Amino acid sequence: MHMEERRVPMMEPFRIRAVEPIPILTRAERRAALEAAGYNVFNLRSADVTIDLLSDSGTGATSIQQEAAAMVADEAYAGSRSWYRFVEEIEDLTGYPHILPVHQGRAGERILDAALLGPGKISISNTHFDTTAANVMLTGAEARNLPCPEAADLDSDQPFKGNIDLDALARTLSGPDGSRVALVLMTITNNGGGGQPVSMANMEAAKELCARHGIPFILDAARFGENAWLVKQREPGYERFTPREIARRAFDLADGTVVSLKKDGAGWGGGFIGLRDDALATQCEANLIATEGFSTYGGMTGHDLSRLAEGVREMVDPFYLAYRADAADHLATRVREAGVDTVRPSGLHGIYLNAGRLLSHLPPQRFPGHTLACQLYLDGGVRCSELGSLYLGELNDRNEVVTPAPYELVRLALPRRVYTQSHLEYVADVLAGIAAKPESLEGYRITHAPPVLRHFKVRLAPYGAA
Ligand SMILES: Cc1ncc(COP(=O)(O)O)c(C=O)c1O
Repeated sequence: MHMEERRVPMMEPFRIRAVEPIPILTRAERRAALEAAGYNVFNLRSADVTIDLLSDSGTGATSIQQEAAAMVADEAYAGSRSWYRFVEEIEDLTGYPHILPVHQGRAGERILDAALLGPGKISISNTHFDTTAANVMLTGAEARNLPCPEAADLDSDQPFKGNIDLDALARTLSGPDGSRVALVLMTITNNGGGGQPVSMANMEAAKELCARHGIPFILDAARFGENAWLVKQREPGYERFTPREIARRAFDLADGTVVSLKKDGAGWGGGFIGLRDDALATQCEANLIATEGFSTYGGMTGHDLSRLAEGVREMVDPFYLAYRADAADHLATRVREAGVDTVRPSGLHGIYLNAGRLLSHLPPQRFPGHTLACQLYLDGGVRCSELGSLYLGELNDRNEVVTPAPYELVRLALPRRVYTQSHLEYVADVLAGIAAKPESLEGYRITHAPPVLRHFKVRLAPYGAA
């Protein structure tokens, strides 16, 4: 039967067999919890959170097939059955001859960056994810983002706002910095850039430029299935391909990949590096064995490997992806109806709220995005993260914002297969309550800020409080 005939819009394509109760707190309890957390939602206990939209990474629900596979997993130190199941599946999905397992994506970044980068070198990306940029910088190299110009218009419906700026890439590679560029990293989908997809045409052109300059073209493919789904929907010529075939075409284009399997692997942990180059793979493998684990488990248990071998199949299933897109669209529509603008068009792994516009009475120095994220928790126990001046702004030595981030956003990340439509309705209702009287919010100020990856450990106080 054709997919369109079988598809039921906006219905979870699974039923629930094991349930986890949701914590419901009073407003006073939430206020006390947030205060104890230093007004940083990363410090909250999950037992104090009603709907957790902090991350879509490692937060999904597994399937009965994954759990059945985990039950018969093999925990041998070397060459386990689980490893062979995993590596055959990943080789079939990606086509890379060298697959190096890692415990999560950033371990893969650390190992690959150690081999390719170093002081004076440059890594170019459509947008480096935060830990990705941190790993580049830890080698002494520079992480340079070249997002396409369309990404700057949050309200336009341009279909591929995750693309890299090809003109800027060409200029950089042939300019004075060209010889220092050691890597071009394409993040699909572009998480730091609003969860927007990258077109196949953009990947092909970027690859061609890299090949011309002899520079490795690498995919950060944490959301390979979701990018493939959006290519299928939005890029002419790909309508009849399956998401798995489109993902494979993307992997085919690249010299290698780093993949966190905590997203489109439906795993609670795990990841891998995929490479074509034998010498590079040997160099990375030595680092892998020294720091992650032997090359047939790389920091993962046999249970993880077996679950992931199943998970990567399920995450490119067109019915699953159609449901995921419907859920994201539905939440975005409800949120906009409530009077809160979102970054358009909506991607799949999260809805990005334009907090700067909703709380336009607050300057970046009072962190409108963070204020909205805190209010979602205070009013409804919804946890989510800021992507604005708290995360990206430049501070002076009194921890005041001197250069704001370009936008004040809040990301409602969507864990895979965890929340139902009524949970999403609840989130939209809580937002609608805030949108009805946004001017009552006064903002926050920083009381302590660590020098790197600030948003994880920063502490704040309500603006005006002693
Ligand atoms: C685009 C992207 N790359 C890399 C990572 C890092 O992966 P991990 O959390 O598995 O270390 C993430 C995590 O969210 C991500 O979104």
